[in-house]
Amino acid sequence: MFMPINTVVLPVAGLGTRFLPATKSIPKEMLPVLDKPLIQLAVEEAHKAGIQHVVLVTSASKRAIEDHFDVNFELESTLESRQKLAMLDAVRSTLPQGMTLSVVRQPKALGLGHAVLCAYPIVGDKPFAVMLPDDLIDDLDGGCLADMVALYNKKGAYSLAVEEVPRDKTDKYGVVSLNSDGQIMAMVEKPKPEVAPSTLAVVGRYVLPAEIFQALATVQAGAGGEIQLTDGIASLLATQCFYPHRFKGTRYDCGSKLGYLQANVAFGLRDVEIGTSFQAWLQDNK
Ligand code: UTP
Repeated sequence: MFMPINTVVLPVAGLGTRFLPATKSIPKEMLPVLDKPLIQLAVEEAHKAGIQHVVLVTSASKRAIEDHFDVNFELESTLESRQKLAMLDAVRSTLPQGMTLSVVRQPKALGLGHAVLCAYPIVGDKPFAVMLPDDLIDDLDGGCLADMVALYNKKGAYSLAVEEVPRDKTDKYGVVSLNSDGQIMAMVEKPKPEVAPSTLAVVGRYVLPAEIFQALATVQAGAGGEIQLTDGIASLLATQCFYPHRFKGTRYDCGSKLGYLQANVAFGLRDVEIGTSFQAWLQDNK
């Protein structure tokens, strides 16, 4: 039996510069795909994975995220008095039943690795998951994180979600190389295409050991002057096994305008209410 994974860390303290000016006062993670903000889609995926505790790593300008998961008395009583029960249910269930939420601040955007380290006082010395909400993984079955948590529960295996990317895009990702047993042997953050060890890129789902906190506390600032999660994981590779998880479904990079629009189109096309009319409109406006 392994210590169960029941906590997910959602680092949401980045500046979201690629969506300015929209993200001047609205957190990137509150941008909706159809009618749900990215952060809610991430929490729902974590719930499907059996996670009970969500730890948000936020910054001063991200209050809207906490509010989204909190009670809104005025709105709820108005919907109740108007008998808008489906809407009332949608408002009340932003945080799925049985889940609890903690919030910790990252005082300065010093990098993803630093953001994860900020969660240590809440997570403590146990394995946990990390999800980046702007990497939306659309899998109508169990979900990417559920598969990774199941792998851990079965074999005690730590894993990183990975995806093949075009070689000219390696400088946007952490890139891994594998040994003959299929374990991750090396990883490097944002390598230039000509020096990238492979085209297998890490995307925003991780199942990590508690030792990552110690590693992040000692790692030096890397690419972009930030403390990189990739560097922390790389420093553990000599002593811990990490497996690549090739997920099912489609990943949308909702931190980029193109990926965000693609996600909205995909979700819009299968929406029961507007899907048919939206498809007809797309056909007419090709
Ligand atoms: P990104 O690389 O997407 O950066 O961060 P960003 O600031 O969110 O967006 P751009 O590039 O300026 O448009 C990946 C994830 O790491 C978190 C972000 O919130 C996002 O979930 N992050 C990044 C932090 O929490 N803190 C940081 O210091 C950096």
